[in-house]
Amino acid sequence: MKISHEAIEKNVGLMIVLVALVVSVAGFVQLLPMFFDKATTTPLPGMKPYTALELSGRDVYVAEGCYLCHSQMIRPLRAEVERYGHYSVAGESVWDHPFQWGSKRNGPDLARVGGKYSDEWLRIHMREPRDVVPESTMPAYPWLQHKPADDGLIRQRMRTLRELGVPYTDAEIAAAPAELQGKTQEDALVAYLQSLGRALSGTHS
Ligand code: HEC
Repeated sequence: MKISHEAIEKNVGLMIVLVALVVSVAGFVQLLPMFFDKATTTPLPGMKPYTALELSGRDVYVAEGCYLCHSQMIRPLRAEVERYGHYSVAGESVWDHPFQWGSKRNGPDLARVGGKYSDEWLRIHMREPRDVVPESTMPAYPWLQHKPADDGLIRQRMRTLRELGVPYTDAEIAAAPAELQGKTQEDALVAYLQSLGRALSGTHS
């Protein structure tokens, strides 16, 4: 049976189905090679997974919605590279589940913020941003210093990440609760921020 052009244009249901089909096939053709391209699936040489403390800081970052104002994706454009450093490469985020690239920048990109400030600066900034950046519009997060970093689930989260390909060892998973012992969510967040973007320069601790 031949479906005429006119018949498709006059039938919204059919049009929707066919448009969806065309878009999916085209998307598939574009996406599929990425899953097999080494540059997008292999971690950078020398890269280490987040420590238990950094990982729980990352969870605080997600829970507090920091990604709603901060991207972690430096585009390969001159203005970006001059401001933030080397553009982001796919190998840096292969173990990030889910990645925090984001698309909204009310605040600066944080992809390479690790090592830019001292831990002390980050703590003060977290408790009250205007104490260090008077014109800041960032909200304060003073409660993080009072909340424990350990929610009792760190081992499960590391095991889940291992299922997804992050190479945590049994020993690292076993030691995780001890690493979080006595630490606050603020400690964890600072550790996470300090780890960001250092894989490329090989200085990731
Ligand atoms: C409502 C938007 C908003 C949210 C939400 C937000 N920030 Fe910010 N952030 C900003 C703005 C604007 C700046 C720039 C001014 C300043 O330094 O305070 C900034 C700056 C920063 C800086 C300094 C970056 C640099 O290179 O100077 C860090 C680090 C940071 N934010 C971390 C965080 C973290 C962690 C969270 C979540 C706990 C967060 N931000 C949530 C808006 C936001």
